[in-house]
Amino acid sequence: MSGDWLGVNSGFDQGGVRVTTASAPGKTILFGEHAVVYGRPAIAVPVSDLRATAQVEDGPAGGGVLLVAEDLGETYRLDETYDSDTARALQVTVRNTLQFLDISSEEQSLVVRVSSQIPIARGLGSGAAIATALVRALARHYGRFITASAISDLTYQTEIVFHGTPSGIDNTVVAFEKPVYFVKGERMDIFWVGRPFTLLVADTGVPSRTRDTVADVRQQWQADRLRYEALFDGVGQIVDAARQAIAVGDVDALGALMDENQAILRELGVSSPELDRLIEVAREAGAKGAKLSGGGRGGCLIALANGENDSKIATALLLAGAAQVISTVVH
Ligand code: MEV
Repeated sequence: MSGDWLGVNSGFDQGGVRVTTASAPGKTILFGEHAVVYGRPAIAVPVSDLRATAQVEDGPAGGGVLLVAEDLGETYRLDETYDSDTARALQVTVRNTLQFLDISSEEQSLVVRVSSQIPIARGLGSGAAIATALVRALARHYGRFITASAISDLTYQTEIVFHGTPSGIDNTVVAFEKPVYFVKGERMDIFWVGRPFTLLVADTGVPSRTRDTVADVRQQWQADRLRYEALFDGVGQIVDAARQAIAVGDVDALGALMDENQAILRELGVSSPELDRLIEVAREAGAKGAKLSGGGRGGCLIALANGENDSKIATALLLAGAAQVISTVVH
């Protein structure tokens, strides 16, 4: 059950106020983004070094529930209406979680704070991480056990409000905090990594909303189903081959598959000149493969390092204009 309580802590501060904190990781999609929305498999891994944190403390009696978005310096009330997406995401998550726990939100006095190290709108799952951290902290604050699967479902309810038609892969990998092979509504396998490998996750610095790219792909799919279904099939085959390559620790094959997946993502129209350029830079600096990750048209790319050339690739990406490069080991 340890996976359900990762990063969770509960106790009293110096003033005797009960405080609970919890965190959740970012994520990156290794293979299969977009096609996963259409029932093909995808593989995603947590990025544990980048985390969102939620803190729940008892507030003054009768004070209601206050939601503090620390990074924005904004405070919202649970029972008021706001235009802000952040306010609505926090409200939806808190309301759904309290309802799930059978706790009446009207009678609570809480101060709920969230903050995140995960850049937003970069395909790193920042929204899912904040929601998951919040669900974990709330459940623990009320002394309630909640499974990773229920946390994932509650996070999905928030994702639906903001992502349109999410496949569910983001909430799954973030809530379970394990590498997953995922087929929407069918499978969620924690997979076996034959040999650890290092990914460099580079931020293009260009924000991109998953909701928009998913909607664009849907429009194009509606206009030419045959072509798009064939492209999605191609992605599905790559994902299955990648799962095999990961299981046997074949890093060279994995890199080649990343390049193949990127070629199809370009055909799907979700790459961008900036992504293409940085992907080329990573390959020239020695990456075994590179591709965009997540929604595309900005956001992040991932490059497969071989343990010897990590810093060379990272430096090349930063010199070429990447806003940030994070190294993460998948094991
Ligand atoms: C977003 O991280 C991945 C997409 O496939 C959308 C989704 O799966 O919901 C682009």
